[in-house]
Amino acid sequence: MIKVNNRLKTIDEYHFKKIEDKKRKLIKNGMKIIDLGIGDPDLVLNEDIKKELVKALDIKDVNKYPPYSGIEKLKLQVIKYYEDVFSIKLDLDEVIITIGSKEGISSLLPSISDIGDYVIVPNPGYQVYTAASNLWGAVPYKIPLTEKNNYLPKLKEIPESVARKSKIFFINYPNNPTGAEAGEEFYKDIINFCERRNILLVNDSAYNEIIKKESTPISLLQSDKNKSMIEIGSISKTYNMTGFRIGYVVGNRHVIKALLKVKSNIDSGQFVPIQYAAAKAISLDRDEINKSREIYDNRRNIAKKILKQKGIKYFDANATFYVWCSVPKGYSTDEFCDKLLTDYGVVVTPGYCFGNLGYNFFRIALTTNIENIETALSKFEDFK
Ligand SMILES: Cc1ncc(COP(=O)(O)O)c(C=O)c1O
Repeated sequence: MIKVNNRLKTIDEYHFKKIEDKKRKLIKNGMKIIDLGIGDPDLVLNEDIKKELVKALDIKDVNKYPPYSGIEKLKLQVIKYYEDVFSIKLDLDEVIITIGSKEGISSLLPSISDIGDYVIVPNPGYQVYTAASNLWGAVPYKIPLTEKNNYLPKLKEIPESVARKSKIFFINYPNNPTGAEAGEEFYKDIINFCERRNILLVNDSAYNEIIKKESTPISLLQSDKNKSMIEIGSISKTYNMTGFRIGYVVGNRHVIKALLKVKSNIDSGQFVPIQYAAAKAISLDRDEINKSREIYDNRRNIAKKILKQKGIKYFDANATFYVWCSVPKGYSTDEFCDKLLTDYGVVVTPGYCFGNLGYNFFRIALTTNIENIETALSKFEDFK
């Protein structure tokens, strides 16, 4: 019997993989499922992106390995995006293309942290920061995010002994799973905290464009005058391209160089036509983004209204396509989520999937149409 890596014991099976199996069984038994679980946009892929993907198939040598740091066209488009939207100037060696932001997060660990180093991760938070830290032999230190603090970490609560042993501090604003947003003041404080201790601050900005229609996106790099930190970007959520597996990392050039060393040894980049399609996506008129924002704003408003009517408490945020809700009194998180799925065919994500502070919470993803959202949330009546 082959003995698998011991560190696999430190991670759980990916929650959405487990749910997929459960869902398949219920569908086989004839149940209609409404999935408010995974954050996978239901909005249509823009036609110009599709055309660019197909057109790029005719590029000479398209079947060959891509450049290790990504094609120049896409990197230049990311640079233009940062300049146009955030007024930040980046050089080519301050950008690297990844196979989705999830891969970017994972590759960062062997690039920066050594075995036994601490990595500060949010609790609740996107589970990949903890899993990647565990798998690469780092020690995740979970910092609490609470409603009282608008789901921003309290830096004073981090023991100095932990901070001194930490190499990476992951934050994620706009935030999954809570929808919380961070402002310039917070970014300045946390950059200062990390700079003084030589910790790499990483903002996972997967939802930076999924904000209220009239809001302006902000970047960590706008507060990072010394260009010492990095931001991880995703093409997935903004442009309905989760299946394309394409993202980027921008900022501190020494970190980008280390990432390139790791990535070129472990992966060989994303298929070139997908990179062209991503460049096309970023170049689209910003009206495209506004259209999506309007749809999510509408869904969010409707969801909040129904939740209020049904007496379900939620965090009143306006970013991402998630709503972070409290499990109704009298139910454990599992009892509630399981009953919703098996009795009503409604999938939500138990809050503990994002860390132990997610117990007694659940997350709704607004990645389905209004009719489905209304039908699903109407079931909450029975939990009053
Ligand atoms: C906070 C956060 N970061 C990163 C990702 C991964 O996105 P990508 O599709 O770019 O890998 C997700 C996906 O749900 C996410 O919620």
